[in-house]
Amino acid sequence: MRVALGEAPADLAIINGSVVNVYTGEVEQASVLIKGERIAYVGGDAGRAIGTSTQIIDAKGKTLIPGFIDGHTHIDTVYSISEFLKYAMRGGTTTIVTETCTISSPLGYEGVIQFLKSVKNQPIKIFITAPPLVTLSPVTEEHATTVPQLRKLLRRREVLGLGEAYWGDVVNGNRRVLDLIAETVKRGKKVEGHSAGATGAKLQAYVSSGVSSCHEPTTAEEVRERIRLGLFILIREGEVRRELEAISQLKDDDAILNRLAVATDGVGPDQLTTGGYMEFLVQKAINLGFDPVRAVRMATVNVARHFAIDDDIGGIAPGKYADIAIIPDLKTIRAEYVISNGRVIAQNGQVLIQPRQHRYPRSMLNTIHLDRDFTADDFTIPVESRQVKVRLIEQVTNLVTREAFIDMPAAEGQLKADASQDIIKVAAIERAYRTGKRFTGLIRGLGLRKGAMATTAVWDCGDIIAVGADESDMAQAVNRIKELGGGVVLCAGGSILAEVALPVGGVISTEPVEALAAKFKRLQETAAGLGAKSPNFGLTLDTLTSPAIPFLRICESGLFNLKENRFVDLIVG
Ligand SMILES: [Fe+2]
Repeated sequence: MRVALGEAPADLAIINGSVVNVYTGEVEQASVLIKGERIAYVGGDAGRAIGTSTQIIDAKGKTLIPGFIDGHTHIDTVYSISEFLKYAMRGGTTTIVTETCTISSPLGYEGVIQFLKSVKNQPIKIFITAPPLVTLSPVTEEHATTVPQLRKLLRRREVLGLGEAYWGDVVNGNRRVLDLIAETVKRGKKVEGHSAGATGAKLQAYVSSGVSSCHEPTTAEEVRERIRLGLFILIREGEVRRELEAISQLKDDDAILNRLAVATDGVGPDQLTTGGYMEFLVQKAINLGFDPVRAVRMATVNVARHFAIDDDIGGIAPGKYADIAIIPDLKTIRAEYVISNGRVIAQNGQVLIQPRQHRYPRSMLNTIHLDRDFTADDFTIPVESRQVKVRLIEQVTNLVTREAFIDMPAAEGQLKADASQDIIKVAAIERAYRTGKRFTGLIRGLGLRKGAMATTAVWDCGDIIAVGADESDMAQAVNRIKELGGGVVLCAGGSILAEVALPVGGVISTEPVEALAAKFKRLQETAAGLGAKSPNFGLTLDTLTSPAIPFLRICESGLFNLKENRFVDLIVG
């Protein structure tokens, strides 16, 4: 108050800039006075509060916007927190809301607690949503979040609600997940949604459960349909999918835009190092014709309002945290200064305040529990007759699968991969909870002609997924994963051709982002060289375990048909 009244000096004064007011849409010449972590004053005549101790940034000719908020992402996987933040911070992002399902799949509640420790005391704000952990895997389900655990999490300020509970499971009446939703609603926090493909009464049933958002719409009509039901929509533009272009049809509809945000839902190392983080999304929206102020709102105040943290963040106004990006002009989203909690944390792409490197505890570094080395025999599919009818996972796109049935001859009492027909083996091996459970089936359409790839970065369960045209290569890939403590490994002809280590929980790397980007690139290129068709082969494997994507999936307990919501047999006749 005294700084605002001109009776005490500001710690930091940003003078002569054009300030974007996300509340009114105005852009006006003003100075911003900051005391400690917060903004004290925005307006003209700021000289009264500039003292000898005041740090001054002259923003003449430049524009001030609030720091960006990514309202839906997954930073509990791939990157160590300090490595990710280096890139996130320099582009103007000052708040992240992340899901925690990936780290909790192999580590349960303890994984979430450890993850919270890793994001604490960082230069920018990181909030989480508690993991509902909707999973196909009966093993993972046993370790999924309980209501008492959720209650403890929701008591924390940095936990904004419950993460994305996939609609199918909710509408099918999964009691545990419904109880988590009810508890979250009772505590006045948000239930994040995932309603991909839901329509009509099923969509409304899902919304009526208490879900308040969705980040899955892929068309303008799906956005309208959901906003009509009161949902808040986060338009995804990231590694998994990119929807901004299709949604840009709505760019002039203010009623819609009030309920709209942009979010990454996770960014790959390549985009992060070359394109950027939230600044890339806002720039893309502007390039697609969105009015720049509206584009900025979609990455700031709208997200803050959705999570009911807008009293603290999301705009440049007195009392708010001083989270500000200074950009050359409203059409050029390139942060020259990034201010977070009142401190300049990055300048012209250089990070000035280093994120804290987190030391992950031993319990998180030892999560590949396989009691012995694997051999080719572990991937045998024994059959009793000479000819059998088999249910295959058929890869339709790089994410979507369906079921297919074929007649297959048995060779020496077992089913073999047949790369000439693009049919190879797929195995799910439980590795987190020491059950020793595993299952091997067949998959068609991946394109892999030889070799094998295995990964522990799978979605929504604590398994290893291995696919291969050759069982010995599958075994080698799994054994290498055990040595690495988790990761992604590609083998062929008895050699390891490419790998990425993910030793934290089997899902997080400890390497620099640049090294990681190079390794993932090599992995993808090498897999493509062996015939892999997916533009992101690792992601294709990671999603085979997920109930989020239709429709024939796999886990350590077998094949799961999402349409029928049940496990189905590999051999059907
Ligand atoms: Fe997501």
